Amino acid sequence: MNKKIALLAGDGIGPEITRQAVKVLDAIAQKFKHDFIYRRALAGAAAIAHTGSPMPEETLDICLDSDAVLFGAIGDPKYDDDPNTKVRPEQGLLKIRKSLGLYCNIRPITAYEALLDRSPLKKENIKGVDFVIYRELTGGIYFGEKARSSHWAYDQCSYSANEIERIAHAAFKATLARRKKLTLVDKANVLETSRLWRELVKKIAEDYPEVGVDFLFVDNAAMQIILKPFDFDVLLTENMFGDILSDEAGVITGSIGLSPSASVGEKNALFEPVHGSYPQAAGKNIANPLACILSAAMMLDYLGLSAEARAVRKAVDYSINHGKSTIDICSKQAMGTEEVGDFLVKELFRN
Ligand code: IPM
Ligand code: MG
Repeated sequence: MNKKIALLAGDGIGPEITRQAVKVLDAIAQKFKHDFIYRRALAGAAAIAHTGSPMPEETLDICLDSDAVLFGAIGDPKYDDDPNTKVRPEQGLLKIRKSLGLYCNIRPITAYEALLDRSPLKKENIKGVDFVIYRELTGGIYFGEKARSSHWAYDQCSYSANEIERIAHAAFKATLARRKKLTLVDKANVLETSRLWRELVKKIAEDYPEVGVDFLFVDNAAMQIILKPFDFDVLLTENMFGDILSDEAGVITGSIGLSPSASVGEKNALFEPVHGSYPQAAGKNIANPLACILSAAMMLDYLGLSAEARAVRKAVDYSINHGKSTIDICSKQAMGTEEVGDFLVKELFRN
């Protein structure tokens, strides 16, 4: 099978982790006789330096004309502490999400048996945890009207029924293949947008009678994710709540370096690790490439290559279970970023 993959390495550790994902994808291509054609394009601080824009039109055109986008990370500390900077790398990520219509952000949370000790949470509370966050990605406060003067600022949060319904259906469908439980996280005791989410999700639930639905306020959900994470199956929520809760839930896996994500729209899809550009580690060959590689596995699933995706996950599981990993999840004889990529390639050919 021929697939065109737009490759946006971005900033910080982005280039080194995407390099490992490409190694793994090349091994898959060879083993399963596919042809993956990578089309590299600029994004983030690297793109600002070359073009003045964190997401140049040329990059968007390449993405629109590809079967999927594999994304590293963007962000650069030189932009972080200056509230007056007009152009920021993160704007590039928001622009690509909006331009490609990637409204459905999927973030699986898995507790790996071999890493239970790594989490600061109690082992017995996280053993067997396996849930997935469906985060709305192109609406809400991130994209509302905003303004600021020296003594006043605002960010508007709005949602249309259509924006809510399309991701709600995606989340309900996802849970049919899982444990058939959907939890809507909102703040319906305070926010009008949340009240609309709740009303529409209740209505949509009638189309999925086999699914159990419950509702949690976001402050309580933040607590339940830590207290009883095994209670969640599919957690559906709006843009900003999903951003916050997915970082929190990452603690369960033992390292944010393990959390992959997919951002899917009607015609396009982008796959990226949940972690950021981790500038302190850039170029040091210490960053964990597994979140990016697991994102590539989600991409293979999206492309209809599920046996290939399974092979990648199996190799990743093997490396985690045998301590063949980077320093964040392995204290004894940790491997470098490149070595983990090489190990996975070898493992894929061994099976
Ligand atoms: C994420 C990130 C982004 C977000 C930032 C970098 C704009 O935190 O993907 O979770 O807030 O969506
Ligand atoms: Mg985030």
